[in-house]
Amino acid sequence: MAALVWLLIHLFFASATGSTSGIPSSSSSSSLADLALQKILADSAQVFGPFPPPSSKGNRAEWMSSLPDSTPLSHLNIPGTHDSATWNFSRATQASIPYDTDAAHAVADPAIYRCQRSSMAAALDAGVRFFDLRYGLDPATRLDLVFFHREALLSAQATVEGMLFAFYAWLAAHPTEVVLLSFQYEGGKGRPPSANATADAQAAHALLVAALTSPAARLYIHQARNVLPLLGEARGKVLLIRRFEDTDDNEVLQLPGIHLPPSRWPDNGKSFAITFNPARNMSAYIEDYYEPNDLPEPLAQNVTANIEAKMQAVEAHLRMAAADADADADADAGKEEDSSGRSLFITFASAEHTSNERPLTPEIMALGNGSEVTPRGGVNVRLAEVLKGDGLKGRRVGIVVLDFWDEPKEVDLVGLVLGV
Ligand SMILES: *[C@@H]1O[C@H](CO)[C@@H](O)[C@H](O)[C@H]1NC(C)=O
Ligand SMILES: *[C@@H]1O[C@H](CO)[C@@H](O)[C@H](O)[C@H]1NC(C)=O
Ligand SMILES: *[C@@H]1O[C@H](CO)[C@@H](O)[C@H](O)[C@H]1NC(C)=O
Ligand SMILES: *[C@@H]1O[C@H](CO)[C@@H](O)[C@H](O)[C@H]1NC(C)=O
Ligand SMILES: *[C@@H]1O[C@H](CO)[C@@H](O)[C@H](O)[C@H]1NC(C)=O
Repeated sequence: MAALVWLLIHLFFASATGSTSGIPSSSSSSSLADLALQKILADSAQVFGPFPPPSSKGNRAEWMSSLPDSTPLSHLNIPGTHDSATWNFSRATQASIPYDTDAAHAVADPAIYRCQRSSMAAALDAGVRFFDLRYGLDPATRLDLVFFHREALLSAQATVEGMLFAFYAWLAAHPTEVVLLSFQYEGGKGRPPSANATADAQAAHALLVAALTSPAARLYIHQARNVLPLLGEARGKVLLIRRFEDTDDNEVLQLPGIHLPPSRWPDNGKSFAITFNPARNMSAYIEDYYEPNDLPEPLAQNVTANIEAKMQAVEAHLRMAAADADADADADAGKEEDSSGRSLFITFASAEHTSNERPLTPEIMALGNGSEVTPRGGVNVRLAEVLKGDGLKGRRVGIVVLDFWDEPKEVDLVGLVLGV
């Protein structure tokens, strides 16, 4: 069944993009494919969002269209969302997922997991181009990949394969754009003990490889490995970020995209580098200090102190990205090779401290906890000030990954990252 649907959808995309795959498409097959696509979009709605979104903020669905093909992707400022699939996770969602209400494992207050309020479809139209996605084996069927944030299953319906098609559909409609999709395996920490966690991980891995190497994936995923493309090379495509381990399986080693494996990703790091292409000295520079766990008591319990500690790490990393842009430009002036840039900067503005007595949820960190406790707001308002301030305004800061990307409403964070 799934294979038939994919074949039909492939036909639909092939005809929509004028691909010369050699498969003839009659009007009856494309209308059937269209129906199949509608079904997949409907099934994915709980993580991808209704498509097209009912409304979207700003009009940045094609902001890359005005940039020359020769622009290195690494020279762009790219707004991103952290734990993008959590946008509709609420008590009602939990109640609708039998697995999640299973008393055998306590999935706590949904606010602990929720990092967004607006959908991925809305984010795409608003200019967001990096999505952080966490997948695992469907605990009910064990035949599909579904979305988790830690132990919380985010939808019983939406599968990774279905959502990939939703992204392909969006890209087919916006062929000037490039979308970065980061896939990270949620290993099952805190879930009911699995009969065999190794077998689960292997099954999940095989399903992911299949999804990322399907005929449609080969059309819509940029196929180069461990290089930063020029914009013109990747338009209309997904650039994969692989936050999972390679095995020595040849097929996996052939997967496209940039490999940032968990084994080389230090936990809670304020600033670290992963060299993904040693031969060409290409590295990702990352800030992922998601939990300010090095504050002494009683400061550790203080909301403002947590927000300030996080902001220090964020601001320092953004300044490093801006300084590197100067160095990169100087180095590039001397030589032609690697004109696509050598450094990918990723700054996570997202954080939580939910292990606190009064849990600091992602929402409290991003947006503050009311004007009495946090008169200066949360990370998002402060980040807006920093991006507007001396030394960063109009500079290359790289990928900036946000929680509650479109809040508070009076701050246009996506626009500030883009520098418009
Ligand atoms: C969001 O979650 C609610 C509650 O589970 C559900 O009724 C609604 O359909 C979901 N929205 C989408 C777009 O799936
Ligand atoms: C778990 O699965 C792995 C891989 O499939 C297998 O090699 C191993 O023997 C299994 N362990 C148990 C306890 O069944
Ligand atoms: C690799 O790049 C980094 C930063 O861009 C630079 O500091 C370093 O000297 C380079 N190493 C080599 C061997 O070129
Ligand atoms: C919390 O920390 C902030 C700044 O770090 C400080 O100004 C404030 O007085 C602290 N609040 C309490 C209740 O200790
Ligand atoms: C945030 O505010 C709410 C109510 O205003 C309060 O119950 C909660 O404890 C506060 N959380 C923190 C971490 O201060």
